[in-house]
Amino acid sequence: MPKLAALQSGPLKGRAAVPGDKSISHRALMFGALSIGETRIAGLLEAADVLATAGAVEMLGAEVARDGSEWIVRGRGVGGLTAPEGPLDFGNSGTGARLMTGIVAGHPIKAQFTGDASLCRRPMGRVLKPLRKMGLAVAEGDKDTLPLTLIGTDQLVPMRYVLPVPSAQVKSAVLLAGLSAPGETTVVEGEATRDHTEKMLTYLGAEISVEATPEGRAITLRGQPILQGRPIRVPADPSSAAFLAAAALISPGSEIVIENVLVNPTRTGFYTTLREMGADITFEAERDQGGEPVADIRVRHSALRGVTVPPERAPSMIDEYPMLAALSAYAEGETFMQGLAELRVKESDRLAATEAGLKACDVESVAAGDTLRVRGKGRVPGGGVIATDMDHRIAMAFLTLGLGADKPVTVDDVTMIDTSFPNFVALLTGLGAAFEARA
Ligand code: S3P
Repeated sequence: MPKLAALQSGPLKGRAAVPGDKSISHRALMFGALSIGETRIAGLLEAADVLATAGAVEMLGAEVARDGSEWIVRGRGVGGLTAPEGPLDFGNSGTGARLMTGIVAGHPIKAQFTGDASLCRRPMGRVLKPLRKMGLAVAEGDKDTLPLTLIGTDQLVPMRYVLPVPSAQVKSAVLLAGLSAPGETTVVEGEATRDHTEKMLTYLGAEISVEATPEGRAITLRGQPILQGRPIRVPADPSSAAFLAAAALISPGSEIVIENVLVNPTRTGFYTTLREMGADITFEAERDQGGEPVADIRVRHSALRGVTVPPERAPSMIDEYPMLAALSAYAEGETFMQGLAELRVKESDRLAATEAGLKACDVESVAAGDTLRVRGKGRVPGGGVIATDMDHRIAMAFLTLGLGADKPVTVDDVTMIDTSFPNFVALLTGLGAAFEARA
């Protein structure tokens, strides 16, 4: 396992373009496959998670090709995908596996789903439960972890589903199955989760309405639309940008600009929280790019103070908590994060991994129930070796923490960084950060 240490370094200076948004990249490939004609994708994230989705989409009969810096999907239309000859391997990606479950549900095909050791321990029951009600069959019966053999149908029944957990993956899986069902499929979410599925399906021609109800936001999709392939430009990923922003905040004298970042409000809770902590962060040149808001994010080194992060903000920054927790160690005072139950079922148990990593760096932190407390002292002793547990965001959060720590911080395995942000080390090094390979 390749180990890497982050050394105290900086200041960070310059401009950086982080890779394309992971959530939008997965969707562009999958929804392109469900469209008729050509979907040309610019700025696709070329990282292992998304490439696994590209492979799955091809195995289901869509054509996927790279043309210069763009990707082209020639789709089969809703209901037009065909049975794969071998297993669909989603690697480390929960989004790939869960969204595709909704798609396969609406096709009369059998497909085996598998993934790596991390994905094979994550719960699939959250998508299988509503999809079984719509008509999906699972060869393994009640089993709810991969590998699984899914048997879809062209006779799905539409449903109204109230999300029991705030999850865009579950919402998306049900809506994607609803594409194949006659009539209206409705998903109700108590807390707003990322809305890229609704936005992109509408852009490709689906009829979707959103209504506020006492139970929450009700998203209704009319089934069996004809989706038409259209060009998609993927903005930069705010969850990847979060590491650069944190690195600049930590290193005295830093000032960086991260270009063309997605600033959809369902994704920007991290940046809202940083501002509350006293961070000097501005969204510059805010503009619309294919229906999604983007901005250049300017970050200057800032003195930070601990804050309480409300539980209702969790869905809008769910992937950013390891970084926020690590950054909180550099603040003065306690940061208290709530509503974090979902972190237990990410690529690793991120609550446990974050608490353990902070302790290894001599930072006081307590994970209890669905909360996390970090006692910030303005500086971090560091010196620890972090167990990444097959989790890319744990690896990147602690490497970033190490850029300001008194002693180097080592992560035990950097391979998983390739799942979402392959040039993470190169981009930070270009801005002035220092890393060192370790035996
Ligand atoms: C994602 C939704 C989130 C997030 C994941 C991407 C998506 O997962 O953590 O990285 O693209 O829909 P949940 O839906 O499980 O919260």
